[in-house]
Amino acid sequence: MKIALGSDHAGYQLKRQVMDHLYKQGIECEDMGAVNGVDAASYVPYASAVAKAITEKRADFGIVICGTGIGISITANKHKGIRAALCTNELMARLSRQHNNANVLSLGARVIGSVLALAIVDAFLNEPFEAGGRHQARVDEIIATEEVNFK
Ligand code: RB5
Repeated sequence: MKIALGSDHAGYQLKRQVMDHLYKQGIECEDMGAVNGVDAASYVPYASAVAKAITEKRADFGIVICGTGIGISITANKHKGIRAALCTNELMARLSRQHNNANVLSLGARVIGSVLALAIVDAFLNEPFEAGGRHQARVDEIIATEEVNFK
């Protein structure tokens, strides 16, 4: 499994902690930026870099982090094929995989602590999508909506 990670300055420290956590589990990571937590950086290009890594199949899942997780998840969701889920607890993370087949996890570094963040990451990456049932039909509807609205 390969994970693409991106953050702005506010999410940088938590991103590094998440990467250390994943490396310890032998999970391959690619940091798409920002490169430090000191210089103010827009979350937009880093959300887009993670989104493209997934849509171009260079990564299996993405993790994006900004102060709240809001701006970076909104941006990721502007990319066709991305289902980014902003999660503040493990249940949301599990359900975003089971029900929504989310392919990007968004975290708010100023909203949750690092212990909870790492638990959310593990919950997200270890939960499968419930393929073939009612949730598949809804994800198919999302994909059909993209076909209509993404030009
Ligand atoms: C940066 O100050 C902050 O606005 C950003 O990290 C994020 O919370 C935006 O959604």
